[in-house]
Amino acid sequence: MNTPPSSPVVPVPKRASWSGQLAFILAAAASAIGLGNLWRFPYLAAQYGGGTFIVVYLALVVTLGFTLMVTEIAIGRMTQQSQLTAYSKLHRGFGPLGLLATIIPVVIVPYYCVIGGWVLKYFWTYAKMVANPSANPFADAGGFFGGFISAPFAPFGYGLVFILVCALVIALGVKHGIEKSNLVLMPLLFVMAIGISIYVMCLPGSGEGIKYYLVPNMDALRGANGSFSVAQLARTVLGAMGQMFYSLSLAMGIMITYGSYMRKGDSIEKSVRRIEIFDTLIAIVAGMMIIPVVYMFAMKTGTPVHDAMNAGPGLMFITLPKVFADFGRTGALVGAVFFLLVAFAALTSAISLYEACVASVCDLLGMKRRNATFFMFFVIAFLSIFSALGFGVWGKMTPFGMDFLTFFDFVTNSVLMPIVAIVTCVFVGWVIKPKAIEDEILKGEPKFAARGLYNVMVKYVAPVLIAAVLVSEICRGLGLFGWKI
Ligand code: PHE
Repeated sequence: MNTPPSSPVVPVPKRASWSGQLAFILAAAASAIGLGNLWRFPYLAAQYGGGTFIVVYLALVVTLGFTLMVTEIAIGRMTQQSQLTAYSKLHRGFGPLGLLATIIPVVIVPYYCVIGGWVLKYFWTYAKMVANPSANPFADAGGFFGGFISAPFAPFGYGLVFILVCALVIALGVKHGIEKSNLVLMPLLFVMAIGISIYVMCLPGSGEGIKYYLVPNMDALRGANGSFSVAQLARTVLGAMGQMFYSLSLAMGIMITYGSYMRKGDSIEKSVRRIEIFDTLIAIVAGMMIIPVVYMFAMKTGTPVHDAMNAGPGLMFITLPKVFADFGRTGALVGAVFFLLVAFAALTSAISLYEACVASVCDLLGMKRRNATFFMFFVIAFLSIFSALGFGVWGKMTPFGMDFLTFFDFVTNSVLMPIVAIVTCVFVGWVIKPKAIEDEILKGEPKFAARGLYNVMVKYVAPVLIAAVLVSEICRGLGLFGWKI
């Protein structure tokens, strides 16, 4: 009689998965759409001449961004692992790359949540203003912002609330937590974004600002002597490239983790194209909400447009509130809706970062999701203290001359992410070969339409372009050779 052999193998728990292709697209888009779209894209576009920047950015998204996103998703689905263990599963020698890619979200998520906390504070302040518009704390928006971020406890407290909300969603799991929250937050985000841009377009005098934003302005590519400047073009391309990485949540393993929950029969290529469309659309709409308003503000106050647009990170937290402040209760309402929308966008992105950390801990240690979420909560909350207090009580500590938040941002975005992206391209282009990615793609669709483009990009163009980003970002961050982007 045949008795079944007793199996010594411990059953492997089945990996979580999205409920379908649409759920995957929504989750990846929710990760991609975040502070990068609403806060960073508008100020970069403003700085680099509006339409000119948009054109360069679009060209990069459909080529370089496409290549990297396809690569990461395919690696995740192929290995069924998060970034920490995915690379070593494909090739033992590349284990350290997984570790590097995992360090990135662990460093980013704490400071991202601190900024999320700032957004919550703004939302809350505007919500109170709707009830009582005569008390306007944003009359001195710069003072309000400076006062809040340098307070001894508040920035940490608000950040902690933000981290807690992320933890709750993640503890509920891929389908019941992440997927469901996206289903509610993302449509609301789209509706609010469209609503505010329509409001802005209807403001008397917004036309000039819209033109400034959307019409490519060749002046942006001229050097100091007024003629076309290659260096200025290079700066625009490099700035757009850095933004693209950040905005599409690339080079930090998130798309590997999210890809590992994707079903084999779903189409990677089509999904990526849709994610790009969503992400870019929201970035452009964000500019529509902000730039015309800032333009009007410049006109009204007699500030040179160039200076107003160059407010950089302060554009959203200082300049914009100054403008809303002029519109009384309506301004307070628009402000509340705007910051709620930003909070939702930041929340869904932070969730993806947090999930990449949790999935890595689960894959490496075989920990249960809830325990890993709990463990990571403490790690993230602890690390967030540095960024939260770095503008106030710990303001004297400035690694490489930067406050903690800027320093963490610099180390991840400017140094680690380009390194991970370059090594990933070399790994795929020259070690496992693009054919491995193609084979994975063909499991979900009959044909890999962009195969030719993909091969050339991943082997040659992407590593060279990203190396240029790496060098220029390091020079900029450390102030070497007078390079400024
Ligand atoms: N892509 C997000 C944004 O545009 C930011 C982000 C970065 C999200 C890293 C996840 C990981 O804001």
